[in-house]
Amino acid sequence: MATNRTFTMLKPDAVEKGHIGAILEKISASGFRIVAMKLTQMTNKDAETFYAIHKERAFFGELVEYMTRGPIVAAILEKDNAVEDFRTLIGATNPADAAEGTIRKLFANSISENAVHGSDSDENAAIESAFHFSGREMF
Ligand code: RTP
Ligand code: MG
Repeated sequence: MATNRTFTMLKPDAVEKGHIGAILEKISASGFRIVAMKLTQMTNKDAETFYAIHKERAFFGELVEYMTRGPIVAAILEKDNAVEDFRTLIGATNPADAAEGTIRKLFANSISENAVHGSDSDENAAIESAFHFSGREMF
């Protein structure tokens, strides 16, 4: 059964372009409550661990470089059916394929630099939340 929390990152490209406020507004307007949030920067080891599932992919080196090049906003979000509804809100991995009105359609440049992360399962939402936040940082 779906739980009610997901994990997100506003990626370095979104932060660089000054889109934090606009993206958070869209997230909030879509009914998600912010449970935890911070501006932080991933180390190479952090990004390699976080995206370990992709380590054999050709784009892995580029992905680690991208995700570590500047600060990100990490957050935990709460809503009924959070994981699935948030993936719908962000849109397809490639913004060229993303539906109108989705965060990636509005704010992303390319399949590599796509503005935002969303957990793909309840299990990964819990793992990724614990990767970035301690219990006392969750509200
Ligand atoms: P995310 O995990 O960041 O929410 O993205 P996703 O599920 O939509 O896509 P995933 O397949 O998990 O890929 C993770 C991230 O790797 C970069 N990527 N680059 N150059 C490429 O072909 C390529 N494919 C994926 C993107 O930053 C993608 O979000
Ligand atoms: Mg993914």
